Amino acid sequence: MDSHTTKITSIQQLVEELKNVKTEREYKKLVKRLEIPLSDYEPYAHFSQEKYTRNCIARTDDFELILLCWEEGQVTPVHCHNNQECWVYVVKGEFDEQRFVESEDQGEVIEVEEELQLEEDGISYMNDDMGYHSLENINDGRSMSLHLYMNPIDECNIFNETTEEFEKKVMVYHSYEGKLLQNA
Ligand code: SIN
Repeated sequence: MDSHTTKITSIQQLVEELKNVKTEREYKKLVKRLEIPLSDYEPYAHFSQEKYTRNCIARTDDFELILLCWEEGQVTPVHCHNNQECWVYVVKGEFDEQRFVESEDQGEVIEVEEELQLEEDGISYMNDDMGYHSLENINDGRSMSLHLYMNPIDECNIFNETTEEFEKKVMVYHSYEGKLLQNA
């Protein structure tokens, strides 16, 4: 079996391989090879009762690899991906993904186009041409998802359900390479 089809079995291997991929196709292939044991994610897994946490595992100018840690019921706002590519791999638990497009109905800004259930080991992909999405941990307990962005995303637009307008959100990390950050 050549190195492009064998499984990726550790975070360290994943990060090393990520440094050598460049195209969207290569990223896609790489995500399909993930078979990393849960124990490998533990150093990066920080949870908060307040909201889901964003834990950066590795980042270069080309990619960003983050572990999102979710308490039961935690949910993202509806958001875009700042013109970057986004792969979501379900490490543990289960998610509901809602996909939205701008609405053609007067009075509505966005509307649900599709709803997906993401299960353990499942992969989802999103980019801005496909619209916006939100993720919710629907597991009976905690969940974890691995997010790979090509390229890194420092800010994105989120939909404010109260004002029914989009607003900019600066993306922040809860931890970096396993270490909790100040104000986390
Ligand atoms: C986030 O990174 O906070 C949102 C999750 C995503 O859609 O990638």
